[in-house]
Amino acid sequence: METQILSPDEIEKAALIIKRGGLVAMPTETVYGLAADALNPEAVAAIFKAKGRPMDNPLIVHISELEQIYGLVSEFPEKARILAEKFWPGPLTVILPKSEVIPDEVSAGLTTVAVRFPSNPIARRLISLSCPLAAPSANLSGSPSPTNARHVYDDMKNRIDAIIDGGECDVGVESTVITLAEDPPRLLRPGGITPEQLREAIGEVIIDDAVFNPLKADRAAPSPGMKYKHYSPRADVVLLRGDINRFAEYVNSHYDKDTAALCYDEDIQGLRCEHISIGRAHDYNTQAHRLFTALRTADERGFKKVYAHCPGTSGVELAIYNRIIRAAGFEVIEL
Ligand code: TXA
Ligand code: MG
Repeated sequence: METQILSPDEIEKAALIIKRGGLVAMPTETVYGLAADALNPEAVAAIFKAKGRPMDNPLIVHISELEQIYGLVSEFPEKARILAEKFWPGPLTVILPKSEVIPDEVSAGLTTVAVRFPSNPIARRLISLSCPLAAPSANLSGSPSPTNARHVYDDMKNRIDAIIDGGECDVGVESTVITLAEDPPRLLRPGGITPEQLREAIGEVIIDDAVFNPLKADRAAPSPGMKYKHYSPRADVVLLRGDINRFAEYVNSHYDKDTAALCYDEDIQGLRCEHISIGRAHDYNTQAHRLFTALRTADERGFKKVYAHCPGTSGVELAIYNRIIRAAGFEVIEL
């Protein structure tokens, strides 16, 4: 099939494709999603095929009005209500016990379903004109999530029906995922809504070990997505933890012509090798916004090794850390 690129004023066309069981990539405020009718099992199965995604990795269902969640879940506890009121529409996904309308293809056989109410007006309008949409990030399984329409096209060209080009995504990393199917709630994936914000709203929140560490061999994945290789460019990513001077010293004594530094603006003047900056050292929102483009740029420029400056682990930085440590295969060199 030939993939059509649609402009934001062609959302009706995209809604028709969805209603006929097709696949449309849509912008959200986090990353681009690859959407299909969440209640159509064949359409959902086609998402897995287009991405090359393992069938045991469940999908998020996207809604455009709070009321839609009541038909999708079998329980809606008080803490879910508080989070929805505070952070929706926005970059937060909640996991709750599913209702029987959710096809097994969406929940990958689990008894729960992940639901998100995005704030991006194009995504919301597409949902309003069609139905709740199952949508994973619109990249090939394993590569960095797409934050603009060109990233989607590079991965999905002629594998999906259409892409709505809504420009660059705001947040740049995927939504925060929290499960409320247990108490206390557990953070499964950090994102634009931080652990600090969640705790302020609902009290105790456990951070799952898989946010920081590779999944232990004897443990079932709490969120199946966490057991797969992720966010990885073809280049070998090496994470370096240390201040600006130690980072420069290490990179300057180890680089060759195929090496780039993935760094902060402040690092640039001390570096002798090629560099890709993700923003100023304390501007975490800009860093999140640019991270996936930077990883894709490293491949486009043909670098074989990327030395990345290791981020911290509080606030929005935790989301950046979580992605980059996966891109680096969980290895950090302490400087
Ligand atoms: O920002 C986002 O969340 C983007 C945009 C498109 O909305 N979507 C996204 O979807 O990142 P995806 O499929 O790439 O990541 C969803 C993650 C996966 O790690 C998956 O395993 C987990 O959420 N997940 C989905 N349903 C789950 C469930 N019922 N229980 C546990 N984890 C679940
Ligand atoms: Mg993904």
